[in-house]
Amino acid sequence: MTQSLRKVFRGSDSRRKNSRIAPRLRPLRISAITWDSHPMPAIFPGEVSYITGAAAGIGRALASRLVEQGGLVVIADINGQGAAQFAAELNAKAGNGSVVAISVKADTTIWEEQLAGFHAATETFKRIDYVFANAGVAEHPWLQPFNASTASERPFVKPDLSTTEINLKGQLYTAALALQTFERQAPSSQSGFRGKLIMTSSVFGFFPSRAMPMYAASKAGVVNFVRSAAQYYADKQITVNTGQPSVFMNSVPGTNGIFVPVAPNLIDTTIAPDVLFVPFREQNLLSDINLVVDQFQKFWGDSTLNGQALAISQENVWAHPPDNYMLAENLPACDLISVEIFKLFGDSTP
Ligand SMILES: NC(=O)c1ccc[n+]([C@@H]2O[C@H](COP(=O)([O-])OP(=O)(O)OC[C@H]3O[C@@H](n4cnc5c(N)ncnc54)[C@H](O)[C@@H]3O)[C@@H](O)[C@H]2O)c1
Repeated sequence: MTQSLRKVFRGSDSRRKNSRIAPRLRPLRISAITWDSHPMPAIFPGEVSYITGAAAGIGRALASRLVEQGGLVVIADINGQGAAQFAAELNAKAGNGSVVAISVKADTTIWEEQLAGFHAATETFKRIDYVFANAGVAEHPWLQPFNASTASERPFVKPDLSTTEINLKGQLYTAALALQTFERQAPSSQSGFRGKLIMTSSVFGFFPSRAMPMYAASKAGVVNFVRSAAQYYADKQITVNTGQPSVFMNSVPGTNGIFVPVAPNLIDTTIAPDVLFVPFREQNLLSDINLVVDQFQKFWGDSTLNGQALAISQENVWAHPPDNYMLAENLPACDLISVEIFKLFGDSTP
């Protein structure tokens, strides 16, 4: 398994032979896989997932699919009531008094609440195989709209950074707890992995947005964190990946496999008012929530994908390539920085 993980990261042996750059210095290889026909691994029976922001939207859809596949889930959300209700629904559906879901009320921006959530999860289910750092919000305006004619009459205002607090800091808290949990548990006898961290970013992790600078900054932060952490954990039986949706909607399969909205004006995401999605629907710009969940599923089970940013927009699915512009020229310096920083931090990682 370690060998195959290495292959994903470092490229094939033949490339290594031909390369004049030492293997450690070579860029990550993102292979040209056809993503819409990529194999769809499932979770192993009884695997445990911890999902933030799971009371609604994509977190809820992920939890439903995980339970359908025989998994156990922790529904973590700032909305404690919604989380408890959803966990109860999942347990009722499972029947026979079985507990397939527990809920925790945790604000991802508060470390202590997240820590308590992880403790509750491991106390109940003993280990955590997947952590979905998913909770996020839409743009909160960080500055007032530009108005040069009144600017000098207004005081300087401290920016509202709550979008980055939740979407970046909150997800990094979740990631830190996930990675320390995985470090403490042995690789699974089923999958061979200690654990898998899957973060929710967005296509705005690589596309700039003039209306959403805080959202774009936080999502880009998640993407480069994923790519960096994936390098560090590649030989430690841990994978780190991100799903990057565009704008999605909830839907159910209709006739002939065509997905139709649950109800004409109902969109089961609370991230923005329903009205925001109407023009997207009119212009056929929404992605199906089931297609979104499919992309996250590509990281599950025995999948060796690592460091991947899997994007979904409308019906398009692709692995967004890392920005390697001028990387070859900068690789020796970039790599030496890692070596020297590790020395400074007392980390034995080469
Ligand atoms: N909706 C979209 O079109 C879309 C597109 C791309 C990416 N995303 C991303 O997907 C993720 C989930 O979004 P969604 O559309 O499912 O949103 P949603 O609003 O439907 O669900 C998000 C859930 O997160 C919870 N939450 C919010 N802040 C929290 C916090 N601080 N701590 C814990 N829980 C918190 C909410 O209570 C809610 O239950 C986000 O990271 C979002 O940026 C969404």
